[in-house]
Amino acid sequence: AAVTAEMLKRQAAARALEHVRSGMKLGLGTGSTAKHFVELLAERVAQGLEVVGVPTSEVTRAQAESLGVPLGTLDEYPVLDLCVDGADEIGPDLTLVKGGGGALLREKIVASAAHEMIVIADASKMVAQLGAFSLPIEVVDFGVAAIRRGIERNARAAGCQGLLTLRRRADGHVFVTDQGHLILDAAYGVIREPALLAARLAEVPGVVEHGLFINLASRVILAGADGVTVIDR
Ligand code: A5P
Repeated sequence: AAVTAEMLKRQAAARALEHVRSGMKLGLGTGSTAKHFVELLAERVAQGLEVVGVPTSEVTRAQAESLGVPLGTLDEYPVLDLCVDGADEIGPDLTLVKGGGGALLREKIVASAAHEMIVIADASKMVAQLGAFSLPIEVVDFGVAAIRRGIERNARAAGCQGLLTLRRRADGHVFVTDQGHLILDAAYGVIREPALLAARLAEVPGVVEHGLFINLASRVILAGADGVTVIDR
């Protein structure tokens, strides 16, 4: 039978579960790969594993809740043992592009609060250079046209140029994040200096966060047709 992307995602999720021990405080990622992890985690919880999950989105919160995974907040547990999340792109030095699902802000806060971040993905997410996947940039709902210009100017200073598209939902309404912000998806094509771009974007007033995750992932678990590969930073 054909190996589907869903099967690979589940394999990566299953391998990440081997890092989970009773007593851990866990950041729970968002997206179709993280969804597999939460499902598998819930099975272990049903068998007696004791963990507390801190979800990175309302979608993950609802899923984990419905499956009986005990949840807490980052205010209750400001230091987490481990965060397991997916990614849209994984580049050199385990730099990531995240936010395809729109959860980048909470994802980055939760990952930053964790001692370790493990990224789970199918092999298609691994790239030689970041940027083919549009970079999500979360902005406040005020002065978006001016924020746009600020992003364009600062991105250019980091060698990046490309169309910024205001994200919309399938029904045409503007996409609003869990934190009440908007997302501009930046089609840079290639991001040659992710750390420089990250620094420049962070300087733009109105930019709340961007989907470049640098020095956050400590390990990537990549599932491909020929097996699971573990890459450490
Ligand atoms: C959510 O905002 C994203 O950062 C996800 O982690 C990313 O989109 C990966 O999702 P999939 O596992 O569905 O590819």
